Amino acid sequence: MRQVFEAVERVTPAELAALQLQRLKTTLAHVWQNVAPVRRKFERAGVRPEDLASLADLAKFPFTTKADLRDAYPFGLFAVPREKIIRLHASSGTTGKPTVVGYTRADLDLWANVMARSIFAAGGRPGDLLHNAYGYGLFTGGMGFHYGAERLGCTVVPISGGQTEKQVQLINDFRPKIICCTPSYLLTLADGFAGQGLDPAASGLKLALAGGEPCTHEMRAAIEARMNIHVMECYGLSEIIGPGVAMECFETKDGLTLWEDHFYPEIIDPASGEVLPDGEFGELVITTLTKEALPMIRYRTRDLTRLLPGTARPMRRLDKFAGRSDDMLIIRGVNVFPSQIEELILKIRALAPHYVIEVTRPHNLDEVEVQVEMLPEADNESVRSQAAAELQHHIKSSIGISARVRVVPAASIERSVGKARRVVDRRPG
Ligand code: DLL
Repeated sequence: MRQVFEAVERVTPAELAALQLQRLKTTLAHVWQNVAPVRRKFERAGVRPEDLASLADLAKFPFTTKADLRDAYPFGLFAVPREKIIRLHASSGTTGKPTVVGYTRADLDLWANVMARSIFAAGGRPGDLLHNAYGYGLFTGGMGFHYGAERLGCTVVPISGGQTEKQVQLINDFRPKIICCTPSYLLTLADGFAGQGLDPAASGLKLALAGGEPCTHEMRAAIEARMNIHVMECYGLSEIIGPGVAMECFETKDGLTLWEDHFYPEIIDPASGEVLPDGEFGELVITTLTKEALPMIRYRTRDLTRLLPGTARPMRRLDKFAGRSDDMLIIRGVNVFPSQIEELILKIRALAPHYVIEVTRPHNLDEVEVQVEMLPEADNESVRSQAAAELQHHIKSSIGISARVRVVPAASIERSVGKARRVVDRRPG
């Protein structure tokens, strides 16, 4: 039998459904009693917690959005008195105030458990040395991985983000098995190794627990080859708990197992809000089943994916994310995800996985420029213009937009220390 961190990871579908229903009822009652803005939303929609008799009845309840959190800034959606909250985190939005989230002691305990479970599922074991390069602070990545790894019994190196030279030195000296950081920071680190005359494939690292931003299959394959490492994908968001909502299992490496005993998923059509059947792509909506301080009912994540049946665990999986609905660019009427351009870049051998997509509107028409780096070893004028022409052609033929491609010398695009900024939209409004 497969090794698991917690016995609940082996539940049968019927046991899981019964557990979810019971927890959902408790959560709805908790919110109704303790979160006035959400109770008012329920009242406006004409629903009460007692209206939930089956899991499918959840569809009767209103969604929660980021705007609800903003309107209640900072603590208005908390379901417990502020004094019961023993930790705050926040995620900085691109505009306006950050989204503030709070945790009771029981919430932190739950979070450490789902993170320990995630690290174990990805191949981590007690005693492993784990280098944690997610940012510590208001961002949930650093402390989320930290306490999960300690709970599992790993030796944690809490280096946080940045200071790449020092990170390379510590990895070289300590020889950790596991690194935790965003996929784009793995690329920065690989360059850091090369910059110090070291081979990134000989770092001794075996597993990267990577998340916090999208990463295409092509990007993952490029990182794995360069660093001689398994990249295991991790998903989560602060509004729900932080990292630890879903994790790829080492045995199958085929999408992210969603820890459904704590987080109940639905996939909806983002335009109509209708719930879609498993297997169809749409927006992921999550309801927390066990959170105390900030229970979330039908939170619209804006992340686009689909639900797949369980493999390594009985719980369902999330497919690789196509992107966020708010990252989708509309270029002269054509919908484009940055990930589509990333896939095409990585198919061209002379190009490096470092790129920026810039969108402008100089004469009332959208224009796109893709800046992408050459691999240092391939950097000469004729290869450069050939690669640019090839990428431009692929973008036109497979996405249907005309983009200008500017192939730039190695190391000229700014490196990420956390979440990479790959799109610069300079259009007015
Ligand atoms: O990024 C939590 C996290 C930290 C997850 C470390 C994994 C590892 P936020 O800052 O609130 O929380 O951002 C959440 O990041 O809604 C997605 O759009 C994106 N995201 C997170 N993981 C993935 C992933 C953390 N594996 C937002 N693939 C989410 C694609 C991801 N996007």
